[in-house]
Amino acid sequence: MNLPRLIVVDDAEAASAVAVARVLALMAAKPQAVLGLATGETMRPVHRRLVEAHRRGAVSFARARSFNLDEYIGLRPGHPASFASFMRRTLFDAVDFAAGATHLPDGDDPAAYEAAIKAAGGIDLQLLGIGGNGHIGFNEPGSDVASRTRIVRLADATRADNAPAFAPDPVPEQAVTMGIGTILEARAVLLIATGGAKAPAVAAALGPAITPHCPASALRLHPAAVIVADRAAAAGVS
Ligand code: GLP
Repeated sequence: MNLPRLIVVDDAEAASAVAVARVLALMAAKPQAVLGLATGETMRPVHRRLVEAHRRGAVSFARARSFNLDEYIGLRPGHPASFASFMRRTLFDAVDFAAGATHLPDGDDPAAYEAAIKAAGGIDLQLLGIGGNGHIGFNEPGSDVASRTRIVRLADATRADNAPAFAPDPVPEQAVTMGIGTILEARAVLLIATGGAKAPAVAAALGPAITPHCPASALRLHPAAVIVADRAAAAGVS
């Protein structure tokens, strides 16, 4: 087991720059790469930088494929708070993925998502955020390290964190997410954590042992996971 390598930078902009540099290096080396993508506020500057890089001609996604971590269950198609909508607004509509090359999991057939990832040759680089409770994707505390793509019930804390995107409507109670086992099969994993609200989760992720209380602590089962944190998010790491 290897603790993830921790890279501490000044702020969220610097963290997104580190992440995007990794994506651009991968895309330069392997234009047909399979990207594991994530949503959430943490990813906004990452996606903005990827769009900027694409506009200045520094990267093309024309031969790439992508698989997102997770999606809510029960939202009407096109719901603005769905992760599919978030991805279109922040990235997909502004870059050049081919039609059908971007994927989000579907609660109707989680096993098909696993099969599609395998058929694509596996994920080359999985980007991750982290929940305030240590979740990765929507693998909430208590998730098994060997878990696969499946339907999950969201933790109350997660529903509260994500409530602003849905207000005044309630946050869905269920989601479909890649499992921790699915995430750990990516050839590279890069978790980005920014802001002081993530400090306890980052500290627990890098704590003495894998704990079901912090799903991100399972990243030490990956041979080369990296955590990029800003100073605020890294503040609790001893
Ligand atoms: C969300 C997503 C995660 C994300 C996390 C943090 O609910 N399911 O993939 O990493 O919570 O979100 P944020 O970046 O908005 O803090």
